[in-house]
Amino acid sequence: MHQSPLAEHVGVEITGVQMSSLEDEALDALKQAVYQNGVAVLRDQELSPEQHIAFAKRWGGIDVNPFFPTNSGWPEIAEVRKAETQRVNIGGGWHTDHSYDEIPAMGSILVARELPPSGGDTLFSSAGAAYDSLSDGLKQTLDTLRAVHSADHIYQPGGFYSKTDQAEELTGQELSTRAVHPVVIRHPVTGRKLLYVNPGFTLHFEGWSREESLPLLAYLYEVASREEFQCRVQWQPGSVAIWDNRATWHLALNDYHGHRRVMHRITLTGDPIAA
Ligand code: SIN
Repeated sequence: MHQSPLAEHVGVEITGVQMSSLEDEALDALKQAVYQNGVAVLRDQELSPEQHIAFAKRWGGIDVNPFFPTNSGWPEIAEVRKAETQRVNIGGGWHTDHSYDEIPAMGSILVARELPPSGGDTLFSSAGAAYDSLSDGLKQTLDTLRAVHSADHIYQPGGFYSKTDQAEELTGQELSTRAVHPVVIRHPVTGRKLLYVNPGFTLHFEGWSREESLPLLAYLYEVASREEFQCRVQWQPGSVAIWDNRATWHLALNDYHGHRRVMHRITLTGDPIAA
């Protein structure tokens, strides 16, 4: 297995392995690479949907996302898709998946199935590097705070997607989600401190109004989305990205109007979040 960094703070590219026939030792090394780097990109994979599911089960449990259309025949696989005729994509703003769940998903395994001729890259940002860059004073304040997360404003009737051309494809509009997590969490494997708020799903700090929370959240979002903390995944046929939701944010660029992009995503079960 050969590893080369994608950027200074986040992301690693892995070559020389096939996920469909990975030895246990190589799987352990791959897991460590994801935990340490936030996201790993594997190139030239030949992975059928069945092999995708089998690989995810070897990693751990699968969380079925209630909002995305599943790929017919494989309920464990969510399709993240945008048709030639659609303008809005899925995941087009900075977020970390499932932070609205009490036990958020550990991460995702995203397989490129149909790519536009150009564009459609995914950006990742390092929640650890963002936290490290803050002053000791702000770190101490954040260490004491918890934040409320929800996806209701995104998926419920009247929410973000209901006003877009993705509305008809999404499911689960009747669901209500809410979770409270520490603003600074510790990675369960690496022990690294990570900033755990995100623009997609964080509503406000616990005990603070949204109005009071927004200026500080906006500052944290500005820091965490700085280019210096990012890497860019440029998809190719056969590319697979595996990311850690605790350690990263991500954003799917929507710069390929008129072309179709289809990705298969399996969401991996996480551990309880702890400060
Ligand atoms: C997502 O899971 O947010 C989608 C990522 C992508 O399509 O690149």
